[in-house]
Amino acid sequence: MKQHLVAPSLLSADFLHLQEAVEMVNRSDADWLHLDVMDGVFVPNISFGFPVIEAISGICHKPLDIHLMIVEPHKFIKEVAEIGAYMMNVHCETCTHLHRTVTAIHEAGMKAGVTLNPHTPVSMLENIIADVDMVLLMTVNPGFGGQSFIEGSLKKVEQLKELILSQGGGRVLIEVDGGVTMETGKQLVQAGANVIVAGSCIFHSPDPLRTIRDLKTL
Ligand code: DX5
Ligand code: ZN
Repeated sequence: MKQHLVAPSLLSADFLHLQEAVEMVNRSDADWLHLDVMDGVFVPNISFGFPVIEAISGICHKPLDIHLMIVEPHKFIKEVAEIGAYMMNVHCETCTHLHRTVTAIHEAGMKAGVTLNPHTPVSMLENIIADVDMVLLMTVNPGFGGQSFIEGSLKKVEQLKELILSQGGGRVLIEVDGGVTMETGKQLVQAGANVIVAGSCIFHSPDPLRTIRDLKTL
């Protein structure tokens, strides 16, 4: 079986020492760096925006996995591409013309991820799954770090895996985000997750480098 990827979410890092946090991720076994952009409209919180991501991009050696929790994300495709993002994740719930947005993300030279809120069924993706590179399943309601994992998410990972396989193979990655711990991480990987995002579990642990290593070897 292919080894899963780990993407630390910087949202739970100490914002007074962002450089140290990014350098720790550089030195770690992490595969990607996950960055959460919130607008206070789609989600009830505001995080950070492009100037901060640009600074991070300048010192980060890992591919950037940008998770846009904002309305009208298609308006920012150029900005996200220009800061050197590897993956641009847009929420299904925010895109009226999802196929157009996915196409534009590809044309801008990035991988395209589509994100589902916990209540949004996997079946919403039936007619777009072949066009995306990744599906990001929210395993908490988006907006905050440190929330508890929603149990029903495991079934959703299995449903998504079935949908991906039914459309001709395992090219599309399954990423999970929210409430990931050693325990839930292991269950998620067993259910079929390829990429696990973890914020508080890593940055609030006494030894983040070791926690990342442990998450890699679940
Ligand atoms: C939540 C964000 C997550 C968040 C996860 O809306 O999308 O990436 O940082 O934090 P934890 O791992 O603490 O649940
Ligand atoms: Zn996220």
